[in-house]
Amino acid sequence: MKHLLSLEAISGTDMRLILDRVAGFKRDRATHARPLTGQTWALIFSKSSTRTRVSFEVGLRELGAQVMFLNAGDIQLGRGEPIKDTARVLGRMIHGAVIRTFAQSDVEDFATYAKIPTVNALTDDEHPCQILTDIFTYEELRGEPITGKTVTFVGDAACNVPVSWIWAAAKLGFELRLAAPKAYQPAREILRRAADGAAMSGWTSQKPAFESVDAGKGTVVITENLEFAATGADLLYTDVWVSMGKEAESAQRLQDLAGYQINAELVKLAKPGALVMHCLPAYRGKEIDEATFEAHADTIFTQAENRLHTQKAIVDWMVG
Ligand code: CP
Ligand code: NVA
Repeated sequence: MKHLLSLEAISGTDMRLILDRVAGFKRDRATHARPLTGQTWALIFSKSSTRTRVSFEVGLRELGAQVMFLNAGDIQLGRGEPIKDTARVLGRMIHGAVIRTFAQSDVEDFATYAKIPTVNALTDDEHPCQILTDIFTYEELRGEPITGKTVTFVGDAACNVPVSWIWAAAKLGFELRLAAPKAYQPAREILRRAADGAAMSGWTSQKPAFESVDAGKGTVVITENLEFAATGADLLYTDVWVSMGKEAESAQRLQDLAGYQINAELVKLAKPGALVMHCLPAYRGKEIDEATFEAHADTIFTQAENRLHTQKAIVDWMVG
């Protein structure tokens, strides 16, 4: 049985198998196969969502399934029933689950105990559906593979979105540059795992200071210097400074991350015609400025739309 619990847990080959199906689902939206006919799937969400919730509800229906949305606060899970018990109940009644929650271990435990195809729709650790979508969108808009290209992430580089980007870079073979203050850089343990046990290539004390690790086929560069990170990039990418669950740190985060913004000055350093993406929701004047957001809105909302098509491909890969 296949799940999508993280990009760490799936191979580059499987990522490609999923990505290769997306264009077909997008092109044949009205006529594609309905492999989930007769099935019921549940969305179990402990955090807010617009894009992920709507795209999964619509996509699963278009694949033939009946869909129920379960706000974790409305079921006994929210009153402390263990995830493994919730999983064993639902696993006897439904055919697949899409889970948005805090702990990565909860989606993994759900998959283990429910024994039904399970999708991570965002945890504190990863957002795999988002990054597969982003890669499809890059390749769709550019007409060429992301392999060998340079992706620069600016902002809170320790949160779920950039961590999923690390695994994608390692397995699909591109350069990922993460520009963030030290306290917002990913744990070195993640980089070590991404490099599959290979030793770090080391630190340099020269400016711009960066750490680079050969992560399998790709490269991950970590730096505090966002101008250095943006120079020559094919794609500039950002995410909120205050992820869900981090609201208590809001004031500190806004202070610490000030300046780690995608704006016109930064875009000028990237390759001419570089794409700018945002997973959304966007906070103008924080991680991206209004003018840059609007200048790249077509890309950003194509990226949002592509959640629908990419997640159909993910589910089709899981049940196929
Ligand atoms: N990008 C994303 O996952 O958006 P939602 O939080 O609205 O689902
Ligand atoms: N890093 C953000 C992503 C939102 C889609 C969060 O976890 O809130």
